Amino acid sequence: METKLPHISTPLPGPEAQKILALDKQYVSPSYTRDYPLVAKRGEGAIVEDVDGNLFLDFAAGIAVVSTGHCHPDVVKVIQRQAATLIHMSGTDFYYPALAQLAEKLAQITPGKFPKRVAFGNSGTEAMEAAMKIARYHTGRHRFIAFLGAFHGRTLGSLSLTASKAVQRRGFGPLLSGVVHVPYANPYRCPQGHRAPECACDCICSDLIERQLFKTAVPPEDVAAIVVEPIQGEGGYVVPPPTFLDNLRRIADKYGILLIFDEVQCGMGRTGKMWACDHTGVAPDILVTAKGIASGLPLGVTVARAELMDWGPGAHASTFGGNPVACAAALETIRLLEEKYIDNAARQGDYLMGKLVDWPHKHRIVGQVRGRGLMIGIELVKSQETREPNPEARNRVIERAFQLGLLVLGCGESTIRLMPPLVIDREQADCAVEILDRCTSEAEK
Ligand SMILES: Cc1ncc(COP(=O)(O)O)c(C=O)c1O
Repeated sequence: METKLPHISTPLPGPEAQKILALDKQYVSPSYTRDYPLVAKRGEGAIVEDVDGNLFLDFAAGIAVVSTGHCHPDVVKVIQRQAATLIHMSGTDFYYPALAQLAEKLAQITPGKFPKRVAFGNSGTEAMEAAMKIARYHTGRHRFIAFLGAFHGRTLGSLSLTASKAVQRRGFGPLLSGVVHVPYANPYRCPQGHRAPECACDCICSDLIERQLFKTAVPPEDVAAIVVEPIQGEGGYVVPPPTFLDNLRRIADKYGILLIFDEVQCGMGRTGKMWACDHTGVAPDILVTAKGIASGLPLGVTVARAELMDWGPGAHASTFGGNPVACAAALETIRLLEEKYIDNAARQGDYLMGKLVDWPHKHRIVGQVRGRGLMIGIELVKSQETREPNPEARNRVIERAFQLGLLVLGCGESTIRLMPPLVIDREQADCAVEILDRCTSEAEK
């Protein structure tokens, strides 16, 4: 593929795509949410080619997964070499170099200068399950505090923490008991109704959690952990005020509660630093990440203070978790992120934000543009005054952008999320802005 820009040459979906869509419709679980009919064949950098030869600029990155771009040649080489040497052994029962080496690297690059240990799984949800089990096992407490709008996974433990969309929970109860949700610190939609644009949302920590929850429904000595996304992903790309994580850290320390950061979506360099929490200087007791860690191979990790993993052999493990090929891909991904792509995410993110920040003045259906690095949300509203969400316009923009060759996804009730691979250049950023500008103008007519 020579081009870095989209090129659509057939009606969408094209004839080959339609064959796959028919097959998919007959056999694949209808629980998947497909916003538009992209049938991918090949990917390179930030470009995806579909089965009919159409080229798309990918600002979705497989839901924030292909951090180093599609099929980065260095990552492909490492995967091929590892696959030809040892595909599987199981870290549950045996040793192999990549698992221990990756654990060492993760202990070095995660926040907090204390000894750490790493548990391996295959996905974000598994990594979160491990974090919940560590927290319960170590503290002997059973409750968790999580946030409205949070997404932590879809297995029954992590689903109990997830509170992003009702459809994700409907029909699956009863879920884990002991989980309570409080509002997330969203300065654009202050849960207390404050309208100052820079509302610090301190009311959530001091008033809601400490003064109300702990004195009425949730004894703090029953709480194993507070679980939070440093930037809320699925819930709408919400960046909390800078004091939010600090306040949670203070409460956790005061009551002997563990603080778990879910960096599954916002981690691995996406925000222009390795971890979203690096923007605040607050370190968690347990950090969970997945998605961008291995450029597309399945891997989820739970990095905890060493003393928290006081469980013994047999208490927790996974047959596939930390598979040698995935670990090798992760080591190479981290090398590339550290070498150049985290810096690129910061640079291109600033550039994109510079172009988008004014959109609430330019487009009357844009309520707010927010984000860090290459994690940017554009929230669409029916009225800037009432801030009523506008999911219909958001969906129209996403669908139309696809027709014009740009892949984006939604999040929250009416936000468009931009989460391209961290390899994009200025020309691609310009192209995405141009397409979105056109689609947004059309949607507000
Ligand atoms: C913040 C966050 N945590 C956890 C998960 C679950 O990850 P997975 O789909 O790999 O299980 C996701 C997935 O979108 C996520 O965004």
